[in-house]
Amino acid sequence: MEKHKNLIAIIGPKGGVGKTSISANLAIALSRMGKKVVAVDLDLGASNLHAVFGIRDSKYSLDDFVQNRVKKLGDIIVDTCLKNLGIIRGGDVPGIANMQYKKKMKLVRHLSGLGFDLVILDLAPGVSHNVVDFAIIAKKTLLVTTPEVPSLLNAYSFIKVAVFRRLTFFFKYKKCPDILDLLERAKDFENYPHLKTMGGFFREAREINSEVADSAKKILSGITPFLVVNRIRTGNDANTGEVIQGLMQNYLGIKSSELMSIREDIAVEKAIARMKPVMTEAPNSPFSRDIEQIALKLCE
Ligand SMILES: Nc1ncnc2c1ncn2[C@@H]1O[C@H](COP(=O)(O)OP(=O)(O)OP(=O)(O)O)[C@@H](O)[C@H]1O
Ligand SMILES: [Mg+2]
Repeated sequence: MEKHKNLIAIIGPKGGVGKTSISANLAIALSRMGKKVVAVDLDLGASNLHAVFGIRDSKYSLDDFVQNRVKKLGDIIVDTCLKNLGIIRGGDVPGIANMQYKKKMKLVRHLSGLGFDLVILDLAPGVSHNVVDFAIIAKKTLLVTTPEVPSLLNAYSFIKVAVFRRLTFFFKYKKCPDILDLLERAKDFENYPHLKTMGGFFREAREINSEVADSAKKILSGITPFLVVNRIRTGNDANTGEVIQGLMQNYLGIKSSELMSIREDIAVEKAIARMKPVMTEAPNSPFSRDIEQIALKLCE
């Protein structure tokens, strides 16, 4: 399961934490840095990325590609009138949100092969396999949360689901049913407390097959999401990300590569009301500045 180099997935399992606002404005920031960027609305059935750009009508949406009405994905890219930046509208067909794995991987191949430097994926809330799979195959994942506890816990749960799904794929591929059974038991840590941490799981997995267990551990070390705490108002808010970082490290053995924050900013609401991106409406606002910092980090 290779990672696709130019894909950046914007994840935030809790609804309304800022995925779409961040996707759109990050895409602008990156395009201004000279990258050729396309932002893709993958919140299928509840798409609204186009609205951030003030785009009302367009001939095609992802529905047309997923349902084979359009052969070339490149044909459905909508111009944003901003240099180096196009978007792909999400569709309105809710059933598509549960795309079959094969169809999803076909879409991924086409997205990655569009010829853009960066493809920003604005994903739906929740922890469905649909969203998790995009997080797994993207080269970089931004995990967005707000400082509130439910959002932080959802972010942690998301990474946990992603870890288990990635490992399940790997152990199936390696044909290791005994380790797969162990992984199942690790989900039920109340009855198997020694498997509560990934450290405990790998200790036991090594006894079954040390080579496979060590390779799996290496795969986990490649899961390094950028953790973004959005809508921070105080210094304490900014620190909440460290709590999740600690949980991820201690229980899942996952390091987040960066911890970043975006300030609460009235400019976001104002720009939405005018159906214009914050980045073009208020380039010097705290929100735009913070997005620029994230864009710089992503390009390092
Ligand atoms: N930093 C911020 N400051 C102020 N308001 C913000 C900020 N970030 C997001 N918002 C507001 O939060 C609301 C939800 O944002 P957005 O639609 O981007 O979230 P989402 O995660 O994409 O939601 P969904 O889960 O429904 O897709 C918007 O009304 C937006 O104005
Ligand atoms: Mg959204």
